[in-house]
Amino acid sequence: ALADPLKVMIAGAPASGKGTQCELIKAKFGLVHISAGDLLRAEIAAGSENGKQAKEFMEKGQLVPDEIVVNMVKERLLQPDAQENGWLLDGYPRSYSQAMALETLGIRPDIFVLLDVPEELLVERVVGRRSDPVTGKIYHLKYSPPENEEIASRLTQRFDDTEEKVKLRLQTYYQNIDSLLSTYEDVIVKVKGDATKEDVFSEIDKLLSSSLDKKTEIVANA
Ligand code: AP5
Repeated sequence: ALADPLKVMIAGAPASGKGTQCELIKAKFGLVHISAGDLLRAEIAAGSENGKQAKEFMEKGQLVPDEIVVNMVKERLLQPDAQENGWLLDGYPRSYSQAMALETLGIRPDIFVLLDVPEELLVERVVGRRSDPVTGKIYHLKYSPPENEEIASRLTQRFDDTEEKVKLRLQTYYQNIDSLLSTYEDVIVKVKGDATKEDVFSEIDKLLSSSLDKKTEIVANA
């Protein structure tokens, strides 16, 4: 029999490298990447009512209300592709109430990866971050510069990526992280996120591979 697909949550402070690691995880493990922040930015870009409301909170570095976020993520998570291939939840849940909304549905991860990056690095990562609107790829002017001039000329910066706003986002993060740590205590692994993105990935790769092996073994022995 086939094992259940892998279910992964990834958390960490703003700019700790969640999106960057998700690109690498997705490429290797084929999981469906669901980023709450990306879903919200897509709502903003579409000009929807939810997007307009969400933007007001995002500009203040606060959590967008559950009324907007909870169903948005739930609907994406329950799509057949995520159920069949496994999922990688990025930036969700981010509060006790969001974690409880998933618990109520019986949705739990096999592994909860917490990226640990010293605060002094986060501001530099945020202000140097750029994204490619064509491919969605994440860059950093110093640490992951664009491959060529054409890409460089079309890179954009997020509206909440200023030094002032990252400090507010960080406060929100510190207010909420403890409640997640207690909910997922049994599946949390802390990964040091202040190495190169390749080294961070090699650590995560080992953890996910071993989690997948365990699941396969359980099915094989059943
Ligand atoms: P969201 O989009 O999730 O932002 P965030 O949590 O602040 O995280 P970031 O996307 O800023 O960073 P990241 O960890 O993905 O880092 P990245 O890989 O890009 O949320 C935005 C807002 O939406 C929130 O403030 C909130 O308002 C709202 N929201 C989202 N989820 C919500 C929820 N569940 N409930 C309510 N509201 C919600 O890397 C950052 C930079 O560093 C890049 O330039 C990258 O190239 C570079 N970098 C990455 N790794 C390395 C490395 N190892 N070495 C050097 N540089 C690196």
